[in-house]
Amino acid sequence: MSPSFKCFHLFIIFYFPIIIIISAATTIVSSTEFSSLSTNFLDSANTPEVFDWIVNIRRKIHQNPELGYQEFHTSELIRAELDKLGISYKHPAAETGVIGYIGTGNAPFVALRADMDALALQEMVEWEHKSKVPGKMHACGHDAHVAMLLGAAKILKQNENLIQGTIVLVFQPAEEEGGGAKKIVESGALENVTAIFGLHVASEFPIGEVASRKDLVYASSGFFEATISGKGGHAAIPQHSIDPILAASKVIISLQHLVSREADPLDSQVVTVARLQGGNAFNVIPDTVTIGGTFRAFSKHGYMQLRQRIEQVIVGQANVHRCNATVDFFDEDPATINNGELHKHFLDVAANLLGPEKLREMPPSMGAEDFAYYQEVMPGYFFVLGMQNASHERLETEHSPYYKVNEDALPYGAALHASLAVTYIQKLQQDKQVVEANYDDNDEL
Ligand SMILES: *[C@@H]1O[C@H](CO)[C@@H](O)[C@H](O)[C@H]1NC(C)=O
Ligand SMILES: *[C@@H]1O[C@H](CO)[C@@H](O)[C@H](O)[C@H]1NC(C)=O
Ligand SMILES: *[C@@H]1O[C@H](CO)[C@@H](O)[C@H](O)[C@H]1NC(C)=O
Repeated sequence: MSPSFKCFHLFIIFYFPIIIIISAATTIVSSTEFSSLSTNFLDSANTPEVFDWIVNIRRKIHQNPELGYQEFHTSELIRAELDKLGISYKHPAAETGVIGYIGTGNAPFVALRADMDALALQEMVEWEHKSKVPGKMHACGHDAHVAMLLGAAKILKQNENLIQGTIVLVFQPAEEEGGGAKKIVESGALENVTAIFGLHVASEFPIGEVASRKDLVYASSGFFEATISGKGGHAAIPQHSIDPILAASKVIISLQHLVSREADPLDSQVVTVARLQGGNAFNVIPDTVTIGGTFRAFSKHGYMQLRQRIEQVIVGQANVHRCNATVDFFDEDPATINNGELHKHFLDVAANLLGPEKLREMPPSMGAEDFAYYQEVMPGYFFVLGMQNASHERLETEHSPYYKVNEDALPYGAALHASLAVTYIQKLQQDKQVVEANYDDNDEL
């Protein structure tokens, strides 16, 4: 069981003496207003009008799931809703991505991110809004993520006068595969952004609660695929063949020694061979076998070492059995590392909005999140939003064909997004005023 966060600190404490001096003359929002602003956002998100609107969007997207870089209808739906809300946007960014803007249009820029893609999975949940596309399903909650970010956009637009900068809405394609976040970064659309926040719905935490942690959240992750080539022939005359099946078997077993014998036991790592393909008949030795899998590590060093050794072991073990092997690596995501200052900000905002007892410390996970690409170029913060309601059935975890989203969680996500961005912009403005006030003081000395 993870311990709850016990953090009652407010950033206001840090700046207390100076804020007293300058607050009279400025538009600084006090901690009371700060707290009531967050509560208002949750109230707004919970009004039947906004709640139904968010749920309806989520269901529409759920019915029409689209895989990475094919989110054409999802993208169109997002743009149509932004149009109705009077929110300007850039499109396309990274093929199907949409970047929306709320606020003054000037710095500081703070971004909120939602991913849009679905999974290649047949939905097994029988309900009114079941996926209408065979073999595709929103089984990772990205439909809910888009709906919550649009919910935040609606609330933020109604409070645009409070925003002393610009909130950048990032609707990103291809989180599951294809590095959508990387492409958004490469598009340059976020080049002036000071900080970015992202969230994921989580069936393992109770509704109304959030979980996160400072520093390492998710591991670095990569995929590999290898072709092991031998020489096919009659299964009863093996001496005339070079058997790639036996070679592949030895390769797989040797790969399992990398973590147990070569990795630092205190630096968690994983190597999994998840695919093995070769041969079609009981009496034919095939020419080739392909294997594929994933590897994870928390440290950069551990990751690079695994990557190098996976290739050496595959090629070396294949050679032992007179086979040749080629290895490809793809879809490599860096580790998700939460910025310490944004962690404090998150704790303040979430405690205000949900109550301090609703914050949990999340254990680090070997899962991966392409949100890490944003964090490589700017301070970023990722957290999860609970949705398990004890009085309902237990929810399946992500990527299950029985996966369900508890839609009651959507207003929390919308309100958290909105509060995190508005109050972070306020904090940046306060810091600026503090610096300017100090500068003025020094001037007079
Ligand atoms: C970032 O700021 C610079 C300087 O103000 C500006 O020229 C550029 O267009 C901005 N980039 C984006 C993506 O808004
Ligand atoms: C492996 O590669 C070598 C060098 O290219 C080649 O001579 C040999 O025939 C290959 N062996 C198999 C089993 O493909
Ligand atoms: C959990 O579900 C029950 C029954 O549907 C509902 O009354 C309650 O408000 C829910 N709790 C939360 C925190 O949403």
